[in-house]
Amino acid sequence: MSRALGFFTLLLAFSRADALYGHALVRCQFSSPDGHDAVYLEQYYFNKMLEFQYNSTLGKLIGYTKENIETADKLNKDPYIGYLQKQKKEMCERRASLVYNNLLKTVEPSVWLRSVEAVDSRHPGTLVCSAYDFYPQQIRLTWLRNGQEETSDVTSTVEVSNGNWLYQIHSYLEFTPRPGEKITCMVEHASLMEPKLYDWEPTADSGTNKIVVGTAGLLLGLVFSVAGLIYYKKKSSERVLVPTTEVFYPEHTL
Ligand SMILES: *[C@@H]1O[C@H](CO)[C@@H](O)[C@H](O)[C@H]1NC(C)=O
Repeated sequence: MSRALGFFTLLLAFSRADALYGHALVRCQFSSPDGHDAVYLEQYYFNKMLEFQYNSTLGKLIGYTKENIETADKLNKDPYIGYLQKQKKEMCERRASLVYNNLLKTVEPSVWLRSVEAVDSRHPGTLVCSAYDFYPQQIRLTWLRNGQEETSDVTSTVEVSNGNWLYQIHSYLEFTPRPGEKITCMVEHASLMEPKLYDWEPTADSGTNKIVVGTAGLLLGLVFSVAGLIYYKKKSSERVLVPTTEVFYPEHTL
């Protein structure tokens, strides 16, 4: 809709300032695959003013000025126009199933499992399982501890619309880590033939990472300083061996 308006704005921008300008907007709206809720809409504008509108829910044309109301009344009495509008409404209904079956394919979620700072002091850890960019909206995220479903200390957002037909959802598990335990986020969605499992890898915790990065940095620094020392020693011994090749210029030429 906004894209259509943008297009008309563009057309207006490139038309002559004194030109008379008329345009029509035709819409077919539905939100179910069988098209039972389809609405067919025609809007006629002249110089950006809405003059007439046909809405299939009302089943008649409406005029927006005194003259247009009279014209609309006349047109509404014409059985042939009524027949044409009914045909267009039925075409709109049939489009619904075409769109749902051919354009709206299921889209698999991208899943990200990570740990975040604990939100309360009862549990030292919080895990977040996020599913991004999936379609359709219905999805189920489940937490498993050693294969057993965990329902306590779980909070979840609703599916949030991205505004581009795709959705995202986030599920939080507050937990106290136990050694040797396996925590899994299970995702069930229409795009997946079977539930997909994402295992939590506690080895990649940030404390260990900091030590690893720090040690690597220290080693690298050590290697460079030793290499620098060797290079310096070599250079200075070379200079000592060939003192006669050095050229001395007088400091003052007065
Ligand atoms: C069409 O008419 C119905 C019934 O009056 C109304 O609820 C709906 O909002 C109209 N649609 C548009 C897009 O104006």
